[in-house]
Amino acid sequence: MPDLKNDRYLRALLRQPVDVTPVWMMRQAGRYLPEYKATRAQAGDFMSLCRNPELACEVTLQPLRRYALDAAILFSDILTVPDAMGLGLYFETGEGPRFTHPVRNATDVARLPIPDPEQELGYVMDAVRTIRRELAGAVPLIGFSGSPWTLATYMVEGGSSKAFTVIKKMLFAEPQTLHLLLDKLADSVILYLNAQIKAGAQSVMIFDTWGGALSGRDYREFSLHYMHKIVDGLLREHEARRVPVTLFTKGGGQWLEAMAATGCDALGLDWTTDISEVRARVGDKVALQGNMDPSMLYAPPARIEQEVETILTAFGQGNGHVFNLGHGIHQDVPPEHAGAFVDAVHRLSRPFHQ
Ligand code: CP3
Repeated sequence: MPDLKNDRYLRALLRQPVDVTPVWMMRQAGRYLPEYKATRAQAGDFMSLCRNPELACEVTLQPLRRYALDAAILFSDILTVPDAMGLGLYFETGEGPRFTHPVRNATDVARLPIPDPEQELGYVMDAVRTIRRELAGAVPLIGFSGSPWTLATYMVEGGSSKAFTVIKKMLFAEPQTLHLLLDKLADSVILYLNAQIKAGAQSVMIFDTWGGALSGRDYREFSLHYMHKIVDGLLREHEARRVPVTLFTKGGGQWLEAMAATGCDALGLDWTTDISEVRARVGDKVALQGNMDPSMLYAPPARIEQEVETILTAFGQGNGHVFNLGHGIHQDVPPEHAGAFVDAVHRLSRPFHQ
């Protein structure tokens, strides 16, 4: 791609040849970096950081200054969408995200607006435009959203949950209400991601962090169905370029064939699946992103390098692999270990592309 100095990440998502395996880290801009904490302090709090396009751009670029990453990811949060629907997002220190007005019944669902991405979420689009300008073609920019199911878990529970009893009560006792909510979220996410693409996101990823809490039948009906609707509604080509779409269901290893059948370009894998088996199952349909256990970054660099080699060998020779962690980087990981990880992927992957 003429306007990109490094397009390995996009090429790998489209299963085209690359010189070395591209790598980025979920949550690469975050609390494990002291410079991130300093910029967040300057913004005041996390949501003020998200709402400030210049500072959101600054923290997006911080990990790229330290490491030879092959992609940047928009600094924002999946919960900006429910916030824009009027739920009142706030973060309680040590407790994670919370909503002032959770969604509990059909009346609450009917009242929810579908946000206009250039209005209520205009600060996200401004961040995308600012980051694209500042990246100046160094690496591609990834846009993202939560999946309807994952967003709904926070909206109905009122915050983070372990057992998901409130939303599962809605799922089993009032499934039509949940379907109305998920459908509204799918429509909101289509508008939101298409606006990110128009603002400059060169690929998009859908985070379905909690799809793995469902049975296989319920996963298809309440999560995958709506991600499929989103994949169908996305701008797959923009300014004559393919815009690759990655689906990531944490704990979704059993359902990868069904996920690949949505027509997405790539699947994100957590660390509980063996990437060689996954490649045999769906590698002729989609690219694969993953899948080192994020806790491996606590180990000494020599052990991290060994694990990188193991995963590269498991994927094997050829195209269609984007290296990543199986979930977000932990906040107490030593930054030098992340550097050892990124360098190891580039250094050790060359023989797999000859
Ligand atoms: O990857 C990146 O660098 C881009 C930024 C990004 C953030 N959140 C920044 C963030 C992305 C892609 C997300 C997605 C997100 N947010 C998900 C899906 C991915 C996943 O991790 O499973 C989810 C479930 C959320 C919701 C959310 N936001 C949670 C559970 C938390 C943690 C709360 C806590 O205090 O631990 C957040 C806050 C958040 N989002 C932080 C960051 C860097 C930390 C907040 C801080 O700086 O204090």
